Amino acid sequence: MVYVTRRETFNAAHKLHRNDWSDAKNIEIFGACANPNWHGHNYVLFVTVKAKTETGTGFVMNLKTLSSIVRKNIIDIVDHKNLNLDVPFMKDILPSAENVAIAFWKVLEPHIAKEGCKLHSIRLQETENNSVEYFGE
Ligand code: NI
Repeated sequence: MVYVTRRETFNAAHKLHRNDWSDAKNIEIFGACANPNWHGHNYVLFVTVKAKTETGTGFVMNLKTLSSIVRKNIIDIVDHKNLNLDVPFMKDILPSAENVAIAFWKVLEPHIAKEGCKLHSIRLQETENNSVEYFGE
């Protein structure tokens, strides 16, 4: 099995806020990400797929195909958008990096399966120092 990773970047705004908590508790738990007037992150997304190398090409998956799947289904929808308000597949989901990674998995997995590949992981870097990784379970 060989693993192949495509990196894509996007910018998006969000706010971490629970309506059932006080403003003070939201700021205590979510810190700067609870800012009432939004804020943005420069996200870096790593999508890793796996398969046995296909004999004809030597590829796990054509990276142009993987890039176009990620761009069409994720980047074009989230880039320069507000994750709380603008993204249909994030509706009613608190846009923590963890939840965004899970939502991306659900969107991408069927498209990658159609190419005869398996999605292995979604890594989402929210800041230089903080990233999350999801393996589908
Ligand atoms: Ni934030």
